[in-house]
Amino acid sequence: MSISYIEQNLANLESILIPSFEDKSHIITVVSADKAELQNIKNLLGEKYTLVTTSSTKEALDFINKKSGAITVVISDYNMPDMPGTSMFKEIEQKYPDVIKILLSDNTDLDTLIDAINECHLFQYVLKPFENEQLKMVVQGAIEQYELTSSKGQLLQDLTELFYKTIKSIAHVLDAKDKYTHGHSLRVTLYSLVIAKQLNLPDKMLEEIETTGLLHDIGKIAIPEEILHKPEKLDNQEYNIIKDHTTIGEKLVNKIDRLKIVGVCLRAHHERYDGKGYPKGLKGEEIPLYARIIAIADTYDAMTSDRPYREALSHKTAVQEIEKCAGAQFDPKLVKIFIEQEREIERIKNNSEKYYTQYSYLDKLFKNAVTKK
Ligand SMILES: [Fe+2]
Repeated sequence: MSISYIEQNLANLESILIPSFEDKSHIITVVSADKAELQNIKNLLGEKYTLVTTSSTKEALDFINKKSGAITVVISDYNMPDMPGTSMFKEIEQKYPDVIKILLSDNTDLDTLIDAINECHLFQYVLKPFENEQLKMVVQGAIEQYELTSSKGQLLQDLTELFYKTIKSIAHVLDAKDKYTHGHSLRVTLYSLVIAKQLNLPDKMLEEIETTGLLHDIGKIAIPEEILHKPEKLDNQEYNIIKDHTTIGEKLVNKIDRLKIVGVCLRAHHERYDGKGYPKGLKGEEIPLYARIIAIADTYDAMTSDRPYREALSHKTAVQEIEKCAGAQFDPKLVKIFIEQEREIERIKNNSEKYYTQYSYLDKLFKNAVTKK
């Protein structure tokens, strides 16, 4: 399977299968006390969707009530003078649970954000300052989510299922290429989902983590076999070529709008918490959350799998190694969760196929769709 084959087919699949929802029938309400931010979002989204902006949560709630919930998406800043964005979201959730909620926040503390997510059933949070392109992608995902749950969503549900099944097949083909990496992407995905579920992330984020896990090494498709499977130690030049699989992975999926966030994480899955990773040397929470999770899962799986030059390490030794690297290679908060879940991780290691059905968000999404038919 060549790089251009995958690139072309993924892009074609998306353009053929997934319709674009860029029409003015979707009303997006944006709430922020920052006038410049409101204007920026208006410029960014106003051409495609009907936008209502306000700097008061009370005004936003009045508007939503007046429209009897005929709003598709509400984007709100967390820090609002009259009440926190999350309190407003709680009120919206009670009356209009179909409205999709996106929180903007400059608070990078994971615990606070997770609490906020749990309290008001958020679709996604976006850390400030955000890239315009990133917010556009999140909003597009939100509109799709709304369509999926609405009555006209069945066709889209079917097409989305086909799209993700194709991604899963690509991951299987990648894994099957080599006896040393057999099942690697699947296990990395599962270990990542174990960690992510402990963070109580919203479904949309679990879906993105699952996709990132399945595709994390897709860039290796472009690395020559003789380097990828060289039994001896790699020289510097060869190692640099292998490192390129991160940026190649991003380039491959970047052509697909719905995978742009995943692409950023493919690029970052070999970054280290202490800034000594690659390709950019990002540090701490500059590294996207999904990539920080995948890094732990990927390293654990590499250690507990046979390699041409060494046998697999035991589960116990691998867990100790991960623990030692907390704060250096890995996010210490995520390592803590990994250690707490180590028995579950070991169970999955010994029977990953069986656990996929239990953990896969995508599988569950499609099963629900079948039941609803
Ligand atoms: Fe990798």
